[in-house]
Amino acid sequence: MTNGDNGLRSGKWFDTRDLDGFLHRSWLKSQGFGDLAYKNRPVIGICNSWSELVNCNAHLRDLAQDVKRGILQAGGFPLEFPVMSLGEALMKPTAMLYRNLMAMDVEESIRAYPLDGVVLLAGCDKTVPASLLGAASANVPALMVTGGPMLNGHWRNQNLGSCTDCWRAHEDLRAGRITEADFDEVEVSMSRSNGHCQTMGTASTMASVTEGLGMTLPGGAAIPAVDSRRKQLAELSGAQIVQLVKDDIRPGDILTREAFENAIRVLHAIGGSTNGILHLIALAGRVGIGLPVQLFDELSESTPWLVNLKPSGEYLMEDFYYAGGVPAVMAQLGGLLHTDALTVSGGSAGANIEGAHIVNPKVIASAEEPLSTGGSLVALAGNLCPDGAILKRSAAEESLLQHEGPAVVFEDIADLNERVDDPGLPVSGGSVMVLKNAGPVGAPGMPEWGHMPIPKKLLRQGVTDVVRISDARMSGTSYGAVVLHVAPESAIGGPLALVMNGDRIRLDTAARRLDLLVDDAEMAARRASWTPPPRKDARGYRALFADHVLQANEGCDFDFLRGRSPVVETSRTYG
Ligand code: FES
Repeated sequence: MTNGDNGLRSGKWFDTRDLDGFLHRSWLKSQGFGDLAYKNRPVIGICNSWSELVNCNAHLRDLAQDVKRGILQAGGFPLEFPVMSLGEALMKPTAMLYRNLMAMDVEESIRAYPLDGVVLLAGCDKTVPASLLGAASANVPALMVTGGPMLNGHWRNQNLGSCTDCWRAHEDLRAGRITEADFDEVEVSMSRSNGHCQTMGTASTMASVTEGLGMTLPGGAAIPAVDSRRKQLAELSGAQIVQLVKDDIRPGDILTREAFENAIRVLHAIGGSTNGILHLIALAGRVGIGLPVQLFDELSESTPWLVNLKPSGEYLMEDFYYAGGVPAVMAQLGGLLHTDALTVSGGSAGANIEGAHIVNPKVIASAEEPLSTGGSLVALAGNLCPDGAILKRSAAEESLLQHEGPAVVFEDIADLNERVDDPGLPVSGGSVMVLKNAGPVGAPGMPEWGHMPIPKKLLRQGVTDVVRISDARMSGTSYGAVVLHVAPESAIGGPLALVMNGDRIRLDTAARRLDLLVDDAEMAARRASWTPPPRKDARGYRALFADHVLQANEGCDFDFLRGRSPVVETSRTYG
């Protein structure tokens, strides 16, 4: 035993001949860990977002056992610890309100404890980016094991995916196309196993994008949660984190500009969720890389859409796995990728996808015959969104991509809920629905309210899509001509706040424009009489959130969380 210079960060806690070392070792012994457990072995934290409140992460304590086995096999010492968990289904008003809080929990847990490396276990929409954000700022060697998707849902010979088919079934119910009894059957047929939503929603998108970044072992994103191959992946990841510690490969070595460009290509090729844009921008900000929303548009134009999954396509994640998964997609992207980017496998992105091929071309199209040649996600500019807005073109009705119509304005979500199905609402299929005060500060937390329900009276006329505009987000499982992430948001005085009923709005997707057709003098008059909505939270985390959250074009991170902190080494605590 020395004075903590055994080459491991944890040695500063356990490898010293002083009172601190005595106490650190003695208290570990209370759990039965003798000296052999950690002596000259890297201490590997398993950062676990397991929670019974988060159905997508409910199996992660089991998966942690597989990770532990791999760590032990490779000569490491695993210690599992809990962090906050964020459940998309149950948290109100939105799990997004807490992404940055969980990221702080992850970062500070890694910094404060004697960890040489970390395996991040996460599954649901926000737990994956929050874990990555925290690990990027802590910059201790880390890799991610995602929880994997649920098995396909099944109902009356149809595959069901959450939550694309939840929205669809609800619209069918409201339009009178299915009965309450049918709706109940859909409810019990949708979620058949552990795992996250099995469409190409935000969780599947973030798992795939994390693989594109090089932060998971190749092939990991799409393995179903309950497939034994996920357990094998977890075991392998446990062994690999020990190697990353030995080689001193850290998130900062992997999260390069090239890695982000690879991830953005993957995002477009899979027809991924618009939420992926926010999370990638925030993550890049943690490592000092700027990702303007226009870069997403630029790379979208030259990236073929290949993956035929709901909500944009037909299939589900289980099919995607059997069809070849992310490696097959990346192999098709070939020359568009930075193949020399380093990954947590210890090899390059190019080496990871050698030999990867498409097994089922109905699910993964080839680069020669893509589902479309590019442009599934577009970034808009214009006088209604000076700092940008996003539209998922592949999920919208083609005829609405070039559209001009009168605004039907909802002042907030309560107003929308109260009036959307009012038979007297002056709305037609050509209207442009506008929702205010649904952004990061206004809601707060930028909930997934952007996919406003189509008014019942339009559904009954057979209308299936309407242009909708807001400063909110949209679930990655949703679809429609939905303009999101309008920045700056209405609650802080963005032009969206000034829209009035009947104003004409022009969406020109080809020109990447979103404009309010109101003259400057009128806009100036409206601005002069505008007052911000009353602030909702005066204390606690929500006050911190409102004071420090950045706008959508900056990833909704907190201003003070951008960048990295120095890793805390131990200092003497006990004399
Ligand atoms: Fe967790 Fe959909 S509810 S991924």
